[in-house]
Amino acid sequence: MTGIVRPSPLPPEDATLDESALAGLGSGLKGLFITFEGLDGCGKSTQMELLAAALRERGYVVLVTREPGGTGLGESIRDLLLDPHHHGMSARAEALLYAAARAQLVEQVIRPALDDGQVVLCDRYLDSSLAYQGYGRGLGIDDIITLNVWGTKCLFPDLTLFLDLDDSIRSTRLAAVPDRLEAEDDEFHQRVAEGYRTLLTLHRHRIRRVDAQGLESDVQARVRAVIEEELALFSH
Ligand SMILES: Nc1ncnc2c1ncn2[C@@H]1O[C@H](COP(=O)(O)OP(=O)(O)OP(=O)(O)O)[C@@H](O)[C@H]1O
Ligand SMILES: [Mg+2]
Repeated sequence: MTGIVRPSPLPPEDATLDESALAGLGSGLKGLFITFEGLDGCGKSTQMELLAAALRERGYVVLVTREPGGTGLGESIRDLLLDPHHHGMSARAEALLYAAARAQLVEQVIRPALDDGQVVLCDRYLDSSLAYQGYGRGLGIDDIITLNVWGTKCLFPDLTLFLDLDDSIRSTRLAAVPDRLEAEDDEFHQRVAEGYRTLLTLHRHRIRRVDAQGLESDVQARVRAVIEEELALFSH
């Protein structure tokens, strides 16, 4: 198994817990925790699988998981969240369900893998809650952060890749039957997209934008360039 040499960025001395963790303190565990974010159809799952294969070839032990889901309980919660029949779900109930699925995933899957020194790639994580519930639903990000600091016992990614794809291309890649969130109107999705942009500015030391246009292989080259620059996983 290839060992991980952590670049270990130092947090600012005066940072509060929320600020420092979200701004790039990372998981603080033996492994590396990398999350993928972006709107539906931007290529998260495709790029994660390609990256996982490349890292495994390099000798890393890689765990790929997704949100909401990744555990038995989490997948049941996912079904509840994405079921279009639950169109009357309140924003707060929605935020709590996402946080519950995340708490289970962290405890059962992510933290043990990081303790074991693995590279964990997660399809969506905390930033999705900030973008969709904080900005999209208008709950604000402070309560979402508080809820998730508690739910995850302060587990934050070492690095987050935001796959940025123009709506005109993205819309051609969406599933034929939209789930409950995908079925929301354009204004909701615009608030989510703007929310992601705000997060990119607020947490630019942790979140890196990747241009998701073009061939899968071209996007993957950009993904690997960021991984290499931030975490140096390919050069040793
Ligand atoms: N660079 C690309 N060029 C063309 N098609 C692509 C590219 N990347 C992914 N796709 C296709 O677009 C669709 C959406 O990609 P993918 O499932 O990876 O996105 P996603 O961000 O995981 O979406 P979701 O949020 O809905 O899970 C898939 O059918 C995939 O094969
Ligand atoms: Mg996907």
